[in-house]
Amino acid sequence: MRISDSVLYVGVNDKDIDLFEGQYVVPDGVSYNSYVIMDEKIAIMDTVDKRKTDEWVANLEETLQGKTPDYLVISHMEPDHAASIQVIAEKYPNMLLVGNCKTFDMVACFFDFEFENRKVVVAEGDELSLGQHTLVFVMAPMVHWPEVMVTYEKSEKILFSADGFGTFGALDMEQPWDDEARRYFINIVGKFGAPVQTLLAKAATLEIEKICPLHGPVLDNDLGHYIGKYDTWSSYRPESRGVVIAYASVYGNTEKAAQCLKDKLIAAGEGNVILADLARSDMSEVIARAFQYDRMIVAAPTYDGGIYPIMEDFLRHLKAKAYQKRKVGIIENGSWAITVGRLMQSILGEMKDIEILEPVVTIKSSVKADTEAQIDELVKACVEAGIEA
Ligand code: FEO
Repeated sequence: MRISDSVLYVGVNDKDIDLFEGQYVVPDGVSYNSYVIMDEKIAIMDTVDKRKTDEWVANLEETLQGKTPDYLVISHMEPDHAASIQVIAEKYPNMLLVGNCKTFDMVACFFDFEFENRKVVVAEGDELSLGQHTLVFVMAPMVHWPEVMVTYEKSEKILFSADGFGTFGALDMEQPWDDEARRYFINIVGKFGAPVQTLLAKAATLEIEKICPLHGPVLDNDLGHYIGKYDTWSSYRPESRGVVIAYASVYGNTEKAAQCLKDKLIAAGEGNVILADLARSDMSEVIARAFQYDRMIVAAPTYDGGIYPIMEDFLRHLKAKAYQKRKVGIIENGSWAITVGRLMQSILGEMKDIEILEPVVTIKSSVKADTEAQIDELVKACVEAGIEA
């Protein structure tokens, strides 16, 4: 694939992987992107996961057509991009490795080959000329790991953005960017909103015509849309008005209350209401939806004197991803010693700027007329709390 006459795609699709990062389902696979810049000097921009090293090396050989690369630029040391460094470094022993101080500390930890005399250590704003092309290195610590840097190519105005602007999905799969990019961002990079904001501020000083991420499609039009989404996600603002009802249910009684709440919210005019059974949903998808919308209702039974486990897991995940700035309602259930509402509220209280909607609905074993009356009150509070559509 050609990004331009001089910038060529040599990455690979991975549709065999069951769980990305050992935890995220990727029904459409994922791509590990890698690029080659052909000039007087040749630069390879990152490697790929070891699952696809052979295919990547074959792509590279076909693109290089017998030429020898001069540089390997290492944007990120996470193994989905860096695992093939030793293979390629040994194949091209004269090729120099370009990274920052933190990069090379990690190279030493992950690999077992001599690279001390092959290091090109770069820092913020350093430039590397390839001939017609000039690479400018921009440090992006904690977008997603501490050593991350992005590279701006001046002549073609291309930003090689590391994990930034990446998405799940192999490149030959048709899928809307926003949904899978949101699920990728919130679950993988979402905790690091402030560093992403810092990178966006640096990117705003560059004239960018194309974004080449390490996962997903190259972005070459309507860049304002993608940058706008990143700004919203990394500042933890809701994207739009909507309610996620995340529930867990042992025998269906909490589920009945959640369904009742959904019906009443829709009847009250709410257009976006997502009902998610946590035990049967992809957790990463529910988390992404919780960040997408401005309000959430959590509903769970008391279990072993505490929170039904998958709900506790969900809330801990939300906290780990820095969920904040949202209005949240609570439905609790129990047949005796109901503790779950208080305990869920306690975890939510550990998060920033969470407003609990009143009333907390209490189900005593099953939904009765008094439960419905409480749900009506919660619906009213929830609708009033919504942002403008
Ligand atoms: Fe795609 Fe943080 O690695």
